[in-house]
Amino acid sequence: MKAILSSGLTAAALFLQARCISVPVALETRAAEACGFATVPLYVVVSGSLTDRIYTTDATEVERALEGGAYLHENVLANVYSNSTGPRVPNTLPLYRLWSASKTDHFVTTSWDEVESAVDSNGYEYQGVIGYAYADTSAETGCAGTKAFYRMFRPDIEVHYYTLNSSEIQTATSKGYMYEGITAYVFPA
Ligand SMILES: *[C@@H]1O[C@H](CO)[C@@H](O)[C@H](O)[C@H]1NC(C)=O
Ligand SMILES: *[C@@H]1O[C@H](CO)[C@@H](O)[C@H](O)[C@H]1NC(C)=O
Repeated sequence: MKAILSSGLTAAALFLQARCISVPVALETRAAEACGFATVPLYVVVSGSLTDRIYTTDATEVERALEGGAYLHENVLANVYSNSTGPRVPNTLPLYRLWSASKTDHFVTTSWDEVESAVDSNGYEYQGVIGYAYADTSAETGCAGTKAFYRMFRPDIEVHYYTLNSSEIQTATSKGYMYEGITAYVFPA
């Protein structure tokens, strides 16, 4: 501190420095709202051996998965509306999540028909709504700033993979994944 003061910085300059440091925090707070409603991080928790990925907005679930040892790291993949805020946001759809222990696969869809067929004939268990996102990007029924949440599936090991990065579609299809379309439109992390 003494060195800084003797280099000629005034108290006012120090005050400005302190204000600059607090700016990123303010930006993060603003970014966590979209079209008038609060958003929450959508985490992806990545396993090593299981090839599974958990998609969740529940930070406690992230912690539990990492503590269990099979899951190695987490990342904020996107931002979505929480399952308590979402029902109030016009034109959004629930992101349903399913799990199959035999396939060690988490599966996310906005289609209730797909939830039913996965449970009835494909060995999945329904786990609930992880959040809400948009069905399209139109000015009337979407929200500016959303990005496509792409879905892929690898049939030989029966795992789903979701990404916002369209370049990964190419990378993943060369590794045996099939591109299955856009699940919803979400906010980039
Ligand atoms: C909403 O999410 C919480 C975890 O964040 C979960 O416990 C609850 O079951 C979810 N509700 C629905 C309807 O899926
Ligand atoms: C998108 O994916 C490509 C291919 O895997 C990768 O090279 C690139 O860094 C990714 N971009 C971002 C923004 O993560």
